Amino acid sequence: MQKIIIIGIGAGDPDYMTVQAINALNKVDVFFIPNKGAEKAALQRLRVEICERFIENRTYRFVEVEMPERAKEFSDYRSNVTDWHAQIEESYVKFLTNELGEGECGAILVWGDPALYDSTLRIVESIRSKGYALEYDVIPGISAIQVLTAKHRIPLNRIGGAVVLTPARRLAEGFPDDLDTIVVVLDGEQTFKRLDGEVFDIYWGAYLGTADEILLAGKLSEVRSEIETVRARARKEKGWIMDTYLLRRRQEATG
Ligand SMILES: C[S@@+](CC[C@H](N)C(=O)[O-])C[C@H]1O[C@@H](n2cnc3c(N)ncnc32)[C@H](O)[C@@H]1O
Repeated sequence: MQKIIIIGIGAGDPDYMTVQAINALNKVDVFFIPNKGAEKAALQRLRVEICERFIENRTYRFVEVEMPERAKEFSDYRSNVTDWHAQIEESYVKFLTNELGEGECGAILVWGDPALYDSTLRIVESIRSKGYALEYDVIPGISAIQVLTAKHRIPLNRIGGAVVLTPARRLAEGFPDDLDTIVVVLDGEQTFKRLDGEVFDIYWGAYLGTADEILLAGKLSEVRSEIETVRARARKEKGWIMDTYLLRRRQEATG
């Protein structure tokens, strides 16, 4: 039976590595390093840095694996994602079959927390469901959402309130009347522009936990154009951006 550990490495700062994650790193022989283009090159370097910093007195190796890109043109979102995951699964199976020796421990280092908008767990389960003898553990990590709220020094929820966490695609359908807090990830369109700026506050963060971190917050109507400008400039300068934000119904708007 092969063994891998799926380790959440936190979203940005290597200091977000938990003691449990560091202990797990120190059991690993082979690290699977996904190689996914420009944005990911920076994230890939961070994975290597984390290993160099936290692994002591142990030999280990990296295996770089070209990861497929999701097809940009598609008619059906779900089947587009399913096809993409099938290709990623092939890469994982190749890694397991060709690179992980008998008795060795492999690892996949997942950005932030593995449970949050990341497909590694689904893909590993899918591999197992096809009869592949693979054992795995999951180590939680500090997600971008935790970093966002910590940096803005805000609680995630209002007292007794619910929070919805969503990719921007869902926010585009509107902000549900019965909710007061939504956290948005994976937004390439600045979907917050579509909302009534008088009704919400926004807490926005880009490159959270890194040296390039940018934070902006305020009444949506007052800060949204600044966020758009700052975001566009940062994206142009770096060639990629990773941002997330929390939207909260203003108290005076809810009465
Ligand atoms: C595919 S999801 C992965 C989330 C990750 N598993 C986590 O726990 O944070 C990627 C999205 O998370 C958000 N994100 C992740 N890391 C971030 C960071 N350091 N700064 C800002 N947003 C981040 C962005 O919205 C990005 O589009």
